[in-house]
Amino acid sequence: MNWWQDLRGRVRFKEPLKEHTTFRIGGPAQFFIEPKDIADLKLLLCCVRKYRIPLWILGAGSNILVSDKGVEGVVLKLNSPFFRKISNKRNHFKVGAFVALSKLIQEAGKLGYSGMEFLAGIPGTIGGALAMNVGVGDKNIGDLVKGARVMDYRGKIKSMDKDEIKFAYRRSNLEKFIILGADLELVKKNRGEFRRILKRYLDYRRNTQDKGLSNAGCVFKNPPQEPAGRLIDLCGLKGKRIGGAYVSKRHANFIVNAGDARANDVLKLMDLIKKRVKGRFRVNLEPEIKIWQ
Ligand code: EPU
Repeated sequence: MNWWQDLRGRVRFKEPLKEHTTFRIGGPAQFFIEPKDIADLKLLLCCVRKYRIPLWILGAGSNILVSDKGVEGVVLKLNSPFFRKISNKRNHFKVGAFVALSKLIQEAGKLGYSGMEFLAGIPGTIGGALAMNVGVGDKNIGDLVKGARVMDYRGKIKSMDKDEIKFAYRRSNLEKFIILGADLELVKKNRGEFRRILKRYLDYRRNTQDKGLSNAGCVFKNPPQEPAGRLIDLCGLKGKRIGGAYVSKRHANFIVNAGDARANDVLKLMDLIKKRVKGRFRVNLEPEIKIWQ
């Protein structure tokens, strides 16, 4: 029986995940499904529960390393127009899970609202950003969140207000759910100031990170002692290469896919980095990227 036949969204088989990750690495997804709306998503969850099919949730694919073998089960991508809506009442923005951070920053800016510019240049979606409480320095997206709409794995929708949502460093309790959308509170700011702040963040990123090369952003979380990038740099690892993967020459917490990297090359390089940093600084680095294998 084709359990997926009643779904109205797009269903693909053996979809190469390297096409859906900024690392440009990853084997096929057994099923790759883009539900059309909430009802379609509910039906999908009902099927995966009934047939005990593993479920993987994909956002912009900018923070994952997928195994070269790919994954068994369903990769879910909420990128249909239904999940990409933005509306606002003054400074309160209601945003769908698949809205790109850059899109929201621009749209809010046009309306004269500000507060998310620190996330400029991060190639993520609202859903992914909330799940892992994306941030820069001491500013995190969680600080702007007034509430979220989520679905549990039984298909039940729940509205969570600010007090129910727990954000921590690169973590949140929203990770237990499928995030459908969020309410964010921004602040009024004049256009000139908005543009100046935005430019400052974009310039900093342009000057310190590899833009245009295949990578997944920072590979390790920053430990409390020092930024991971500085520790890896001090170990002299910039440019270190294993197979098709190398440590960025600009930012040591980035690993770049030179074109033909395999997931295993990245994993071996991560292992080597961890050992060197541990050996020299007695610091345990923890991955920031999610590893699907
Ligand atoms: N540094 C080095 N050598 C390097 C890289 C960094 O000495 O090779 C030093 C820098 O000079 C700076 C310090 O380490 O003094 C911190 O570096 P940076 O300002 O680049 O920030 P980060 O802590 O490495 C964080 C986020 C990035 C975000 C930047 C933007 C984490 C783990 N990373 O990086 O987020 O783009 O700030 O300022 O919090 C991501 O999450 O994927 C990501 C890229």
